[in-house]
Amino acid sequence: MAEVYKPAEDTLLLLRHAERLVEGDVLEMGTGSGYIAIELSRLPRVRRVVGVDIDPKAVGMARNNALEAGVSDEVGFLESDLFQNLGDSRFNWILFNPPYLPSEGAIDELSWAGGGTGGELLMRFLSEAPPHLSPGGCILAVVSSQTNFDFEKAEQQYKTEVLEEVSLFFETLLCVVFVPSAFPEAEV
Ligand SMILES: C[S@@+](CC[C@H](N)C(=O)[O-])C[C@H]1O[C@@H](n2cnc3c(N)ncnc32)[C@H](O)[C@@H]1O
Repeated sequence: MAEVYKPAEDTLLLLRHAERLVEGDVLEMGTGSGYIAIELSRLPRVRRVVGVDIDPKAVGMARNNALEAGVSDEVGFLESDLFQNLGDSRFNWILFNPPYLPSEGAIDELSWAGGGTGGELLMRFLSEAPPHLSPGGCILAVVSSQTNFDFEKAEQQYKTEVLEEVSLFFETLLCVVFVPSAFPEAEV
């Protein structure tokens, strides 16, 4: 089995914008070690943070990290394949630093394998997310130049805006906000 994903450039890119934008109820999909969820749970304008991961090892580590950080009452962690175990919970912000590299997605590649083109999991996430957003809710996600991400397809459901691009030596990372077309009035 692969290791739980260690916070990296993509983690910090997403956290940087989330810290500035999020409020209310926040869901972090694919929370890994829980680093982002834990940091956001410290913000006074955030009411509740839920971190979800399909990998039970990640969920266990995130719970321990929250305990050590003294925020286990402010943040909860749940094992789930995307939204499967979330019932009808809704959130003001949903964040995702997805596995985004092209791969056939073997079980030990959970932290980086995003499907055949790299963008399949993110696209599935975007199609399942709207019922879990409160009115005015938005999504913040990382997209890599290594992912053959279909922006045109996503824009059938969302208005997208690139908030920042970070060039690394092998890829460019984008932090993208997705505003559902049903709530186009949300400001970022
Ligand atoms: C790139 S890592 C990001 C970890 C952490 N959020 C960060 O930014 O450091 C992607 C995470 O998504 C999780 N993941 C992969 N497929 C998933 C799925 N179908 N549902 C929920 N989480 C998933 C992986 O286990 C991994 O922890």
